[in-house]
Amino acid sequence: MLLRLLLVLLVSLHCVVARAQDSLINIIPKPVSVKSLAGSFALNNDVLLVYNNDSSQSIAQFFKESISISTGLRVNISHENQFIGKEKSIRFHLLGFRDNIIGSEGYRLQVHPTCIEISANNTGGLFYGMQTLLQLLPSEIESLKPVNRHSWSIPCVDILDYPRFGWRGMLLDVSRHFFPKEYVKKYIDYMSKYKYNVFHWHLTDDQGWRLEIKSFPKLTEIGAWRAPRMGEWWSQSPQYDGEPATYGGFYTRNDVKEIVEYAAARNITVLPEIDVPGHSMAALAAYPELSCLGGNFKPNVGDKFYKKIENSFCIGNECSFELMDSVITEVAEMFPGKYIHIGGDECHKGFWEKCPKCKARMKTDSISTLEGLQSYFIHRMEQLIVSKGKRMIGWDEILEGGLAPEATVMSWRGLKGGIEAANMGHNVIMTPDKYCYLDLYQGDPDVEYKTYSMNRLSTSYSLDPVPEGIDKKYILGGQGNLWTENIPNTRHLEYMVWPRAFALSEVFWTPQKNRNWDDFSRRMEVQLNRFDAAQINYAKSAYDPIIRVNKNYQGSYIINVTAEINGLDIYYSFEGPDPDSFYPKYSQPLEIPKGADTFKAVTYRNGKPIGKVVTLKIKDLDKRMRQTN
Ligand code: ACM
Ligand code: ZN
Repeated sequence: MLLRLLLVLLVSLHCVVARAQDSLINIIPKPVSVKSLAGSFALNNDVLLVYNNDSSQSIAQFFKESISISTGLRVNISHENQFIGKEKSIRFHLLGFRDNIIGSEGYRLQVHPTCIEISANNTGGLFYGMQTLLQLLPSEIESLKPVNRHSWSIPCVDILDYPRFGWRGMLLDVSRHFFPKEYVKKYIDYMSKYKYNVFHWHLTDDQGWRLEIKSFPKLTEIGAWRAPRMGEWWSQSPQYDGEPATYGGFYTRNDVKEIVEYAAARNITVLPEIDVPGHSMAALAAYPELSCLGGNFKPNVGDKFYKKIENSFCIGNECSFELMDSVITEVAEMFPGKYIHIGGDECHKGFWEKCPKCKARMKTDSISTLEGLQSYFIHRMEQLIVSKGKRMIGWDEILEGGLAPEATVMSWRGLKGGIEAANMGHNVIMTPDKYCYLDLYQGDPDVEYKTYSMNRLSTSYSLDPVPEGIDKKYILGGQGNLWTENIPNTRHLEYMVWPRAFALSEVFWTPQKNRNWDDFSRRMEVQLNRFDAAQINYAKSAYDPIIRVNKNYQGSYIINVTAEINGLDIYYSFEGPDPDSFYPKYSQPLEIPKGADTFKAVTYRNGKPIGKVVTLKIKDLDKRMRQTN
């Protein structure tokens, strides 16, 4: 009897310890399997990092450097042959046989009180095991300055982990606004912490050509520079004659080499995008003879030009293909990855229709539609790319007029293009704008920076990249896309990326059945502490009130208030100053009192404000009613 009592006591003690441990385990993206164990591993200068070959040595070194600033620790690194076996150790172990469960990017991580072991088939998997280990350390590990802490402990745990998809991308548009090499590296670094493995570099667009091409130097001499503008995009005044083009920049071949290597050390492949035949005004500014009708083009400054000024290469002019050949040749030399992205999106075809050369091309090649002419261009681009030993990716518009034989489709206008391509047996990367575009609003436009359309954190989190009825083998994975028309600086950039890129990392990595919004939002909060330590900006919009309007059966307006994060208290007012917790607490949909001209709401948690005050003008009820998300 006494023995049984003791046993029950012991088991429940173990459960309490494991539960306490659970609150220390807040990994994003959530691993496939996590088992909490009792106890912890204390990280200090007695710990030895042990490796078994050159690749695992590089990961051990990466770990040492990642902890050195905040902890001040100077741990030693040693080959396993010199390892005595008595020391406390962290073993970085590349397996000598293939572990089929973890595949090429997975890992196993075991933390015991005196030893930690990470094992993987490949360096990428080892790198991810190391990133998970870093996430098991306290948030201050990310600090940019030394932290005075009593101990750096890691909860004991047994983790098995591998990704759902092989393609986990993030796009950065460096054309609309330019971000220097150093910041591109930081972007890549933060991608890698959340196990993204493709950096999609949107290098060219109407507003700037950002990649040095030795054989066509004017692409950057002229195409990389535009007149500076501040304020709302698409309502700028055009560059006036004689105005200096002082805003911009580009990446040299050396810069590219440095970035490609930096990314590779973090298991990231760089996907270059040369966006053609549309989105090419900056290139036409450099080589106007490659337009259909000619003109004095300048890289766009954010003024409305679409359909009024040419921004597509002439398809009838063979010289366009000569430039493409040189560009693709140099791009293929610079970027070791398997793919080159050729854009293909939003190409205005109206100038082709008026162009004698384009018309002649259509006649000689028996092309009957403008979509067919675009498809002709894309097919030739694919031949070029394949001739350099690479494979082509394009936005879903490349489906129009007939898909090139081996093309991979990046589906952005919803999932539709991806479904169509997969049904034709083509590979697909899912990046539907409503879920994956990180330049969209993530909260009430009343309190956010001006942009267009909505993509909330919970919407990003709700994506399943494999639509029902589709053969999943064609879905390579997905991507978050950061377009930068409205994003002039890096603080703003980070605000738009995080935490939505946490959500997408989990969409692309974690098994669908392991995903749960409340669990994610709890873990996200801990990750945000890490961002505070690292001084990275992020949005807390998911804590803001969401005000929705509809009508009851009598035709009166009704206001509903929710928040994405569950369990918050909402207080509101129809008059006077901003509401606080002394105002009425929201509990059910509200009718609008006579004469009220404003509705305001705020969120609280544990008696403290946590979201912003959001205001809805009563005169805007109709407009708000039309907003569905
Ligand atoms: C795109 O957003 N035009 C790909
Ligand atoms: Zn033409």
